[in-house]
Amino acid sequence: MKTPAPEIFDELDPPRRLLMGPGPVTADPRVLRALAMPLLGQFDPAFTRYMNEVMVLLRQLYQTQNRWAFLVDGTARAGIEAILVSMIVPGDRVLVPIFGRFGHLLAEIARRCGAELTTIETAWGTVFPPERIIAAIEKTRPKLVALVHGDTSTTMAQPMDGIGAACRRHDAYLYVDATATLGGMEVAVDRWQVDAISAGLQKCLSGPPGSSPITFNDRVALLVNGRKHVEQGIAPQGFVPGNGPAIRSNYFDLAMLMDYWGPERLNHHTEATSMLYAARECARIVLKEGLDACFARHRMVSEGLVAGIEAMGLALYGDRGHKMANVTGVVIPEGVDGEAVRSALLADFDLEIGTSFGPLRGRIWRIGTMGYNATEKNALFCLNALEEVLRRQGFATAPGAGSAAAEARFRAGRPA
Ligand SMILES: Cc1ncc(COP(=O)(O)O)c(C=O)c1O
Repeated sequence: MKTPAPEIFDELDPPRRLLMGPGPVTADPRVLRALAMPLLGQFDPAFTRYMNEVMVLLRQLYQTQNRWAFLVDGTARAGIEAILVSMIVPGDRVLVPIFGRFGHLLAEIARRCGAELTTIETAWGTVFPPERIIAAIEKTRPKLVALVHGDTSTTMAQPMDGIGAACRRHDAYLYVDATATLGGMEVAVDRWQVDAISAGLQKCLSGPPGSSPITFNDRVALLVNGRKHVEQGIAPQGFVPGNGPAIRSNYFDLAMLMDYWGPERLNHHTEATSMLYAARECARIVLKEGLDACFARHRMVSEGLVAGIEAMGLALYGDRGHKMANVTGVVIPEGVDGEAVRSALLADFDLEIGTSFGPLRGRIWRIGTMGYNATEKNALFCLNALEEVLRRQGFATAPGAGSAAAEARFRAGRPA
């Protein structure tokens, strides 16, 4: 039989796109450079120093004094799964308020962890008044409330006032998914009384998907350590396992991860070296700019983009009072083929904007202005490209109206 000729492809040379969807967004070149740094062994003192530095940086990013702040290797849902599988014992009551696709994801993961689940829902494009969540906590008395902060599927940000305090009053833990908001909007873990929280790199942190920064407090550490079962091949002599049922995942076992990130440095997985470098750089860049400056930049670019969209005769999607500062939903006008517009933007402008799913499929575009991409220039470029492509689709707007309105907003926001 003839040996097939080897299939060898060309060297990678991806097109240079401006990624302005709901994530991943264009990575900061400094993060890409960090990814290319030489590998180190995971117990090399230089590497463990970087691990410790990451913990210090993440605490500042999350505005917390928590001892535990580290990375879970995997995309943002790896952080979600690690927290939920480590906290939920089958049969535990869990409450998930759902205002978009990612609330459904939390419910789905909690269900797989064996939770006795209660969900409450509100229409997509709106958020819950906090009192409604608090009333549900009082009624269902859950062990855990799992809540999305900013749901990119609907572009809405849930107000957090009073929810953490209500959880404390009723002896519940609060977990928050801040995947899409960390670094782009205020995420104040200690002030909000959040017990555990997670995120990803690929949104306002301007990194690649593949690492999930998390933090949790001592209440959670105590709970999880009560379920600690260390792998036999690495358990120190005389190790006594916790009384609670073993965590159902090895990879996502927060008790073993604490021993890996803590002074014990007990071997668990092989830390994703390059992703740790990337995460360190992502956090460093945001903190160097300053959290408040970074949030203000996201807010300003978003306001300019919205002004431009509306000046073009397009409608903003959802409750404007609770719109995330880093992603904008735009209603696809009647008679316009939303996917054709996205394809033309990609082909002719190397610009990616987002589609949507579930009940919003084919109804809105989602434009991300996150992290490295949240600039006035990018917002103007996007508005001009959209104007051009829409004109070709027969949706004419006054030439330059979008970018003029955005510029006016930007000018008004600059110091005199
Ligand atoms: C709010 C939210 N949660 C979770 C996720 C899941 O993240 P990943 O795809 O990185 O696992 C996303 C991704 O878009 C998100 O926006």
